[in-house]
Amino acid sequence: MHSPFRMDNLMENRKILIAEDNPNNIQLLGSILRQYKPQIVVARDGRKAVKSAIDLQPDLILMDVNMPEMDGYEACRKLKEHPETQHIPVLFLSARSATDDIVAGFAAGGVDYIQKPYIEAELIARIQTHLKLLVNRNNLKELIRTKDRFFGIIAHDLKNPFLNIVGYSEYIQENLEQIEKQELLRYINSIFQSAFAQNRLLDNLLEWSAFQTGSFTFTREKLSVDEMASDIFQLYRQVALTKQIRLLNLAVEKLYIWADKNMVNTVLRNLVSNALKFTPAGHEIRLLSARTKNTIEISISDQGVGMSEELIRKIFAEDLQLTRYGTAGEKGTGLGLKLCKEFIRANQGTLRVQSAESQGTTITLVFPSDNL
Ligand SMILES: Nc1ncnc2c1ncn2[C@@H]1O[C@H](COP(=O)(O)OP(=O)(O)OP(=O)(O)O)[C@@H](O)[C@H]1O
Ligand SMILES: [Mg+2]
Repeated sequence: MHSPFRMDNLMENRKILIAEDNPNNIQLLGSILRQYKPQIVVARDGRKAVKSAIDLQPDLILMDVNMPEMDGYEACRKLKEHPETQHIPVLFLSARSATDDIVAGFAAGGVDYIQKPYIEAELIARIQTHLKLLVNRNNLKELIRTKDRFFGIIAHDLKNPFLNIVGYSEYIQENLEQIEKQELLRYINSIFQSAFAQNRLLDNLLEWSAFQTGSFTFTREKLSVDEMASDIFQLYRQVALTKQIRLLNLAVEKLYIWADKNMVNTVLRNLVSNALKFTPAGHEIRLLSARTKNTIEISISDQGVGMSEELIRKIFAEDLQLTRYGTAGEKGTGLGLKLCKEFIRANQGTLRVQSAESQGTTITLVFPSDNL
């Protein structure tokens, strides 16, 4: 690089549209840009540039001003009017250097105006700067989406169980003398179930948002699979008892993974919670572990309602928040498995779903064993 300030190369694999009619200029620009490995697309007049931009959705457009058919200003205005292209940054490249020309470029919606002949390093720096802005803007959009989903879930799903807790505890407080012991136990159990589900949802939400916003602290350590499994089963003891489901920890002893404890705990918690939720009374849930040549595998199997192929395909879809009621009417948010997948991936592992309707589900976590 010519500049003392090193910039990351954001051009690699980005699609850049060059709108230019002069073959020599295309040649020159192409040879400069190619060192940064973008995908280059060329349009030889303004009208073609607009069409290519709509069809190909480039990340950035380098736009000449004087072109046949439609000039660069007009093409830029058209792009800014079109909902599918208005977000694409347009940088003018022109020999016209009068202030009016430059201002006209910005007025047409351009983000920058570079005069020809240009200095190579400056051209590159400006392109990189606008790509950086693009990346930042996309990150911000993603954060806002996450925040909206977060608030949506809080507003929607955190509210109802609280009504249950507040309602029952108030009733008990006011009528303690008249309530029979059996009845009291039922109320307390209902409060417990609500508070437990609430607590779990809150944990998921907080971890998920921390992960999304990058404020998650991530420390990998050697973790004993069977100790973690027994902690999780202990946590769900009461829920399993109430639902009459047996939890079987069949993890082999002295088997370890190298991962972040909080994250793996969150994953196991979600998987056990799902297994409990989607299994009717009288069945069992098994946690198994195994070592293969290069991996350590942990699986959680239930004999519950299972999933259709279509459901399996959809559970990880970005914009869907799929959820259904459990066999005892338990409510969810459709956040759990997505969180699991992200957390396992962050720990270099993979998550596999095997399930058949009315037969049960097995979720397997596969971790590499060569990092231990
Ligand atoms: N063990 C399972 N058996 C049957 N279906 C399951 C099982 N685990 C997950 N599913 C299906 O996948 C969906 C998504 O699971 P996920 O854990 O992401 O959400 P949820 O359990 O509905 O809500 P949340 O975990 O956020 O409280 C569930 O609603 C359910 O339809
Ligand atoms: Mg779940």
